[in-house]
Amino acid sequence: MSESHGLNLQTQVIHGGQWPDPNTGAVMPPVSFSSTYVQQSPGVHKGFEYSRSHNPTRYALERCMAALEGGKVDKDVTHGGFAFASGLAAMGTCLELVYSGDHIIAMDDLYGGSYRLMSRVRERSQGIKISYVDMTDPARVEAAITDRTKLIWVETPTNPTLKLVDLPALAAIGRKRDIITVCDNTFASPMLQRPIELGFDIAMHSATKYLGGHSDAVGGILVTNRADLAEKLRFMQNAIGSILGPMDSYLVLRGIKTLAIRMERHCRNAAEIARRLEAHPSVERIVYPGLPSHPQHAIAQKQMRLNGEPAGGGMITIWLKGGLNESRRFLERVHLFSLAESLGGVESLIEHPAIMTHASVPPEKRKTLGIDDNLCRLSVGIENVEDLWHDLEHGLS
Ligand SMILES: Cc1ncc(COP(=O)(O)O)c(C=O)c1O
Repeated sequence: MSESHGLNLQTQVIHGGQWPDPNTGAVMPPVSFSSTYVQQSPGVHKGFEYSRSHNPTRYALERCMAALEGGKVDKDVTHGGFAFASGLAAMGTCLELVYSGDHIIAMDDLYGGSYRLMSRVRERSQGIKISYVDMTDPARVEAAITDRTKLIWVETPTNPTLKLVDLPALAAIGRKRDIITVCDNTFASPMLQRPIELGFDIAMHSATKYLGGHSDAVGGILVTNRADLAEKLRFMQNAIGSILGPMDSYLVLRGIKTLAIRMERHCRNAAEIARRLEAHPSVERIVYPGLPSHPQHAIAQKQMRLNGEPAGGGMITIWLKGGLNESRRFLERVHLFSLAESLGGVESLIEHPAIMTHASVPPEKRKTLGIDDNLCRLSVGIENVEDLWHDLEHGLS
């Protein structure tokens, strides 16, 4: 049960922050394409002036995400939810919370594009310093704090090595020193993990993944329950302008309606496949948060829960016996698992991070993180699990 609005999350994905259109009774919000809104007199209007600043379809999605992630900001028109053109656009806007000369502590294992935005763009253009820390041990985060540290950026589970961070422990560190804590919650989705309920200031998503769920929209989300941060984010969402358009807002909102049942199947399929892969002779090593062999399995049991039960999510990472040739052979032989970047859609995807999603991470850093040539990342979809297993077995044979 999410505490944000008193309703169970399974109900909130459908009704959270939603109501029928007051003009027509339409159950789904109309896709509102108008770029501007008529005013009765200068500055006198119905709350909508210009679509970058205010859009009813985007608001519907933003209110829904605020309900799911526990953003509860009184007087804020979308209750602390903000939608952007992509996950990276959301991240880029969030990074504007800090000033030139400030210091950020970021997880060492991040989505390659997040790492690229921080290390190759914002460190240069924004003049910030970033320390990349393995946050699986909160003591390392404490040790990295300087008097200019203003933000802690966490990803959990991480992309692609599925490391887990103890969110309440990190939130306590941030609160004690007045450091803003942000969690990229893309891999877990709010069905499994709600960082704000665990003490974080901001939850972030690539809505392109589980939220949209159908591989047909790119988007990003920020949610906060702090009025001061909501005010800053709303200002910057409008000032920077990397907003989510009305059609994509509609698609993501439509996707969220089935998030609860999709996550149940993603988790069930992935748990079964992870168990079988762990026993497969061609697999050298596997990480899956739901397996007792995962290094932070105890955190997973506590922090990632679906309908009150521990859940490992839909992502699996494996290291094959062999090297690049064995990986290529496997990735070319599977068919139901499409070889493609991205994750979290209804269809199963598979990819090779060292060549694909994490090519922007320098080779020596990839090596330290274990993003080797024999590492493959699986996004387990909601197809029949036996069909998926036959596909993988064929690929590994
Ligand atoms: C964990 C994570 N965060 C952020 C992003 C970036 O999101 P987008 O591709 O929507 O910009 C991704 C993309 O794969 C991701 O996996």
